[in-house]
Amino acid sequence: MSSQYVCDTGDLAPGEVMRVDLEDADGRPVPVAVVRDEAGEYHAISDICSHGQVNLSDGEVEGSTIECWLHGSSFDLRSGKPLSLPATQPVPVYALSVEGDSVLIDIAVTVGASA
Ligand code: FES
Repeated sequence: MSSQYVCDTGDLAPGEVMRVDLEDADGRPVPVAVVRDEAGEYHAISDICSHGQVNLSDGEVEGSTIECWLHGSSFDLRSGKPLSLPATQPVPVYALSVEGDSVLIDIAVTVGASA
């Protein structure tokens, strides 16, 4: 599957996150949190916390991490690794590219610890 357009670069300010619902090649839903970290870089990380079935997009962006709102685990936006308990498993991080003003995600390609 190739990259899918998700938003314009201007749709997210540094520190903001947006949930998008994509589909894999078999038509299964893949919820993704599109994050612009505080340094201005864009990231695509699974929107489902690896500790519980809650949305990471409802959490807080801090530096280059996102913190789960329910129990407070922070995940590295580049690797998907949990940096604090109670989560111990990484979440998938997807390939993201910026072309012109468009943010594109390829959910067939995972990067970081969960690859
Ligand atoms: S549900 Fe995310 S840390 Fe527990």
